[in-house]
Formats: sequence, C-alpha cells, structure tokens
Amino acid sequence: MDQHTLETALADLHIPAIRYFPAVGSTNDAASAWAYEGAPDGALVVADEQTSGRGRGERRWFTQPGMGLAFSLVITPPKMGGAYVMPRLTALGAVAVRYALQRNYNIVPQIKWPNDVLIDRQKVAGVLAEAQWSGEEIKTAILGIGINVAAGAISDEILPRAEMNFPATSVEEALKKRIDRVELLYYVLKELFYWRPRIHTNDFLSEWESCLAFRGEWVQVTAGESYGKDGLPVSLEQMPQPMQEGKVLGLAMDGSLKLLKKSGEVVSVRVGEVRLGPPK
Ligand code: BTN
Repeated sequence: MDQHTLETALADLHIPAIRYFPAVGSTNDAASAWAYEGAPDGALVVADEQTSGRGRGERRWFTQPGMGLAFSLVITPPKMGGAYVMPRLTALGAVAVRYALQRNYNIVPQIKWPNDVLIDRQKVAGVLAEAQWSGEEIKTAILGIGINVAAGAISDEILPRAEMNFPATSVEEALKKRIDRVELLYYVLKELFYWRPRIHTNDFLSEWESCLAFRGEWVQVTAGESYGKDGLPVSLEQMPQPMQEGKVLGLAMDGSLKLLKKSGEVVSVRVGEVRLGPPK
C-alpha cells in the first residue's frame, strides 16, 4: 500500500484529497489535525500501521503493518446538525463495512450496536466517530474505521484474546483466503459514499436495524461515554446511564437501542456497550 496505489485504486470515487501514512499514531488524530488546517469534506487518511490507534471508551486499537485497514474520513458538510447526528455517522461506518463484505465477499456480518461489525458473533471491525464542535453545532466529524483483515491482525502478542472485551476475528479468517486490502477499502468507501447522503432517512435506519446483532436475545448494556473526545455538549446530553438488561427489540428513531425489560417495560438506551446477558 502506498500513496500512488491508493490514488489509482480509489480514483473513480473522486475523493478530494488522500493522505497515506506508512505509520501514524491514529488516523483519527491525523484527520482531525488536517481538518483544523482546512481539509476538504471527504478527505481521507489511511495508514498501514497505527502506533496509538484508539477505540471507543479510550480503548486501544491495534493496527500492525500489512494486517488491517485503518482509515478516517473528514466530514464537513455545511449543515451537519448537532449531537444527534453522531450515532448515525457511527452507524454509517458499520453499515458500509457490513455491505462491502456482504456484496463483494459473500459474508453477512451483523452490527453490534452501536459501532462494532461482527462475523459469526466475533468482532471484525470497529468505528470511532468524533466531533469538532462550533458552539452547539458540529463543525467537522471524523469517521474512523478499523478492520481486521489478515488473521495476524489478532495476535496474542499484540493483545491476548483473553483480554479482549469481545472475541475477535478477521476477514481472511472468515473467508479462509487472502484478500486485497486496497480493494476492500474501495468497496467500503463506495458504500460509505452511497449511504452518506441517506443517513437521515428511514431507509437508512431500516438497513441499520436489519443488520443488528442479538435481536431477540438478552443483553446487558453497560454505561457508555460521549461521542466526542472534547464533546462537552454530547456528554452533557448523554449522561452515563445505569446498566440496563433486556431483550433486544431493535432501534428507536434516534438510533438508540430498544430493549424489552424483564418487567415488560420498553426502554431506549442512547449510549453504551452491549454484552450478551444471561438468558431470562
Ligand atoms: C472500537 O472498536 O471501539 C472502535 C475502533 C476504531 C478504530 C479505528 S482505526 C482508524 C481510526 N483511527 C483510530 O485511532 N481509531 C479508528
């Protein structure tokens, strides 16, 4: 992978600017710094290796050279709206990975609300959407996606499987063959650009809901965190919630997770981390 290969392979997606790094701390940080310098809407940062990649909840995300995909898109439409857009942007990343894998590799992943892509109930990709604020409005969003491509992306030397918060897998483990990372990147970006203008529609919500993992199963949703690194308006609006347990019913209109509690009450959880709960 290099700058020229990326520019050539992604040419027909008309990406306004691409920055490739053989190694970088985090593509989200690089994209964020670039956005402050005036990166255009749709600018793309790709790295072969991340030395301090981040996941939600300040978790680390490992990207070893040659093993995965780590990339971030700068999103700066004139009217993006407020905090409510962030769950849909996170879902945009997950839906794009899901469809790229389904349409081009014949695997049917599911989305573990809110931001993980699963194959056979194991995590293959994660999404980290972060916001730069201007008052109450989001000025720029950074949509970061990490995909485990090669089997070596998940190694006990990097992070013992036992220490992972969720079992992990890779695209190549699922397919049992090698794939071209740049080709996968192309397919994911193609889906992203297709779905992006549609994220406010009910169609998008239905697509997202149709891929939801654990529907009809009992889960625990642990208290979550804000969407923005510096996202004060988000964290104020989305105060940490207590742990909820319930059966996954689907999504509410705002993208929150609808749970049926043992008491019969239906609750919507806006922020959090889903774990499989004991059967009731
Ligand atoms: C998660 O699983 O909590 C989200 C993981 C997101 C990882 C991607 S890799 C590209 C981008 N840069 C980062 O530092 N994080 C995201």
